[in-house]
Amino acid sequence: MHTLAFVNQKGGCGKTTAAVNLAGALAGGAARVLLVDLDPQAHATLALGCAIEDEPTVTDVLAGDRPIDEVVQRVAGEITLLPATERLAEFEETAARMIGPERRLRAALERVAPLYDFAILDCSPRADGVLAANALRAADTAVLIVECGTFALQGALKTLGVLAEVGERDAHTFETLVLATLMDRRTRFARELLIAIQARFGERMFDTAIQTSVRLREAAAAGVPVQVLDPECRSAQEFVFLADEVRELAVRSRPPALTATDPFSPAESPIPSRSFEPAQSTR
Ligand SMILES: Nc1ncnc2c1ncn2[C@@H]1O[C@H](COP(=O)(O)OP(=O)(O)OP(=O)(O)O)[C@@H](O)[C@H]1O
Ligand SMILES: [Mg+2]
Repeated sequence: MHTLAFVNQKGGCGKTTAAVNLAGALAGGAARVLLVDLDPQAHATLALGCAIEDEPTVTDVLAGDRPIDEVVQRVAGEITLLPATERLAEFEETAARMIGPERRLRAALERVAPLYDFAILDCSPRADGVLAANALRAADTAVLIVECGTFALQGALKTLGVLAEVGERDAHTFETLVLATLMDRRTRFARELLIAIQARFGERMFDTAIQTSVRLREAAAAGVPVQVLDPECRSAQEFVFLADEVRELAVRSRPPALTATDPFSPAESPIPSRSFEPAQSTR
């Protein structure tokens, strides 16, 4: 199982939209996908039409009150969802009384890892709290969502700083990759900004950029991923391309098979890690 955490401290930059629709594209391609709502706003839960009343949620899993497999729900688009409600905000408080609260999600995911190909974690706009720490502890890849709007680069670089700190503090390495979203190709400003973002992050960016589209808003309002609403539309196609990139990423980062029993197999060169150096200032 490859785990991706969708992060950025900036609110409303498209994290949930990207997480839900990537989950939909991967599941549409027959991958087994677990989407974890790690945001007390519960937007991923709502965007998948899941109305929680008394059912257990991710809060119960993190608190250690319920095993994860009893809490997940099958939702639209063949996605398995670990849902959230606003009660998740309480975890910040209860965590203060726990030992190793930031390891809870990783431990829970390890239990179900054989059942899924991908876990996608939709984080809240806070990159420094215990929920984000849980996400980054569990993640193989942190996907930094960068909205193609004003101050996008500044916000992204700030979040990168936080990610680097968390990585160092927890001694857990995850690769960080950038995904550009809310890209309005009709405006020269957005096109130039995308070029600037590409210049800054280079090969650490996904090739796919998610364009602004009313279809994505409509899909969320209908409680389904865009693949279910309109599989032929441009947004659905973009998420199929992104899913292809994510599948390649998962194959690349898989630990190499042991070759001890086969002394004649050619030695494979290790794949270079694409983790970030410390952020440089941008002009
Ligand atoms: N590519 C897009 N095209 C059109 N609308 C979009 C796109 N991406 C996101 N939106 C819309 O922008 C708003 C914010 O998006 P979203 O909820 O995905 O952001 P977020 O980063 O998860 O926000 P938060 O930080 O509050 O969790 C939503 O109304 C969503 O429908
Ligand atoms: Mg969100």
